Amino acid sequence: MSLPGKIVCIGAGYVGGPTMAMIAKNCPMIQVTVVDISQPRIDAWNSDDLPIYEPGLDEVVKACRGKNLFFSTDVDTCVAEADIIFVSVNTPTKTKGIGAGMAADLTYWESAARGIARVSKGYKIIVEKSTVPVKTAEAVEKVLTSCADSFFTFDVLSNPEFLAEGTAISDLAKPDRVLIGGKESDSGRKAVACLASVYQQWVPKENVVCSNLWSAELTKLAANAVLAQRISSMNSLSALCEATGADVQQVGYAIGMDTRIGSKFLNASVGFGGSCFQKDILNLVYICDSMGLKEVAEYWRQVIVMNDYQKTRFVHRMISTMFNTVSNKKIGILGFAFKKDTGDTRETPAIDVCRGLLTDGAKLDIYDPKVKEDLIRSELQLGKFEWDHPQAYANRVAGIKDESINVSSSAMDAARDSHGIAILTEWDEFKALDYEEVFKVMVKPAFIFDGRNLLDHNALRKIGFVVYGIGKPL
Ligand code: NAD
Ligand code: UGA
Repeated sequence: MSLPGKIVCIGAGYVGGPTMAMIAKNCPMIQVTVVDISQPRIDAWNSDDLPIYEPGLDEVVKACRGKNLFFSTDVDTCVAEADIIFVSVNTPTKTKGIGAGMAADLTYWESAARGIARVSKGYKIIVEKSTVPVKTAEAVEKVLTSCADSFFTFDVLSNPEFLAEGTAISDLAKPDRVLIGGKESDSGRKAVACLASVYQQWVPKENVVCSNLWSAELTKLAANAVLAQRISSMNSLSALCEATGADVQQVGYAIGMDTRIGSKFLNASVGFGGSCFQKDILNLVYICDSMGLKEVAEYWRQVIVMNDYQKTRFVHRMISTMFNTVSNKKIGILGFAFKKDTGDTRETPAIDVCRGLLTDGAKLDIYDPKVKEDLIRSELQLGKFEWDHPQAYANRVAGIKDESINVSSSAMDAARDSHGIAILTEWDEFKALDYEEVFKVMVKPAFIFDGRNLLDHNALRKIGFVVYGIGKPL
């Protein structure tokens, strides 16, 4: 199977950028261009300050950029010239209309498909890289056939992405599997083989798995749902551990030693975050509901219910432990990103925890090594619940900074004069802090709420801290 000459990816985000950089690195004979409607994003990809932080990404981009990897806003020209078009645009949860709060918003997808139809001639392979509802390929085909001219022929493939943020480059370099779904027709099979030949430049043949289109689309939603379900299962057990004196880390370790279960994704936490778990489960629930599968929908909905419960439980535990009020108390928040090694804050549990504490009158001092102050402040604007917070709303409209929030440039500054600190992201640097010094600068009794079970709780207790860990004996 001959390799394609030119690949374009529509959408230069967390997936489009790193994925295409990895293809460019491993396929020097292919010209890869990543296009986006956002000029600032493309400018950043062309600069020394890439728009996303991902360990190892700078090196890969710098090695290929300007050789066989390009970033551009000229969507039409690049799409018209490409043999394979990946579509990796955002597919957020709908915020209005039918399915609001549940279904995937395919506005960006539809507009990308219409753009492809407008400028394409000859034969092209269109690859769904974004996570989409099952049967999206059918809708895409309809848009392409009804809007394109008769000289355009195509195959639509589903090639969902399984990378996790923070480990994107190693995940892409050595994926557990690459999944390609296509139509079971001659042309469909050839298209699958063509895309498989690209990945096989660096991924072992046996790790490139082929399926029908609908299986590939559903697998992506199912994989995220199952991963999140494992976390929610452990989080539910963490509440039981706290009530009984069991230790959720010991329970998780022993469960994970069963080779049928495996050890990964069994860490209880303050709750899972990130742009996809919640969005994809809501999407799955919506699809099940629409198909009349109420019990199935309800089953998966519980994964989200448990995650919300865990975040609320953490806030309640903080407040009740600190003598039932945090009003006017300074609390140091260590970590705001949804996990370590990323600056991404989408759906981070820190948002709900911080909002919960602010609602109770706390003064927050937040530190995250990779999240900038503006992003933290904008995430904490009480948009969703502003009818409960008329003053916050008035301040936002008037452009007044929320006085209850300070963003510090070190963990030590965030901890200084605080009554308690909460670890919300498992950054390595929080493990290495000098907690004797931290203890000295805090108000006594000094509380630590470890939302990631990151620290040595016995050592902290010896220093004098009052420590709460998730699912740990008190
Ligand atoms: P993102 O928001 O970081 O990037 C999407 C980009 O698409 C944006 O830069 C936006 O400007 C651009 N865009 C939107 N419409 C466009 C159009 N018509 N033409 C050109 N550009 C357009 O999103 P992301 O995190 O990269 O996620 C993309 C998809 O991949 C989503 O469906 C997501 O569910 C899925 N996914 C994400 C991850 C992850 O770790 N973030 C992992 C696997 C799968
Ligand atoms: C997740 C999946 O792991 C990827 O396979 C998938 O491609 C991606 O979603 C996506 O579709 O966007 P990501 O959200 O980047 O990747 O990061 P994860 O490592 O899965 O972590 C998600 C959340 O779960 C984080 O908040 C993390 O702290 C939390 N988590 C993870 C736990 O609380 N406990 C665990 O044991 C593991």
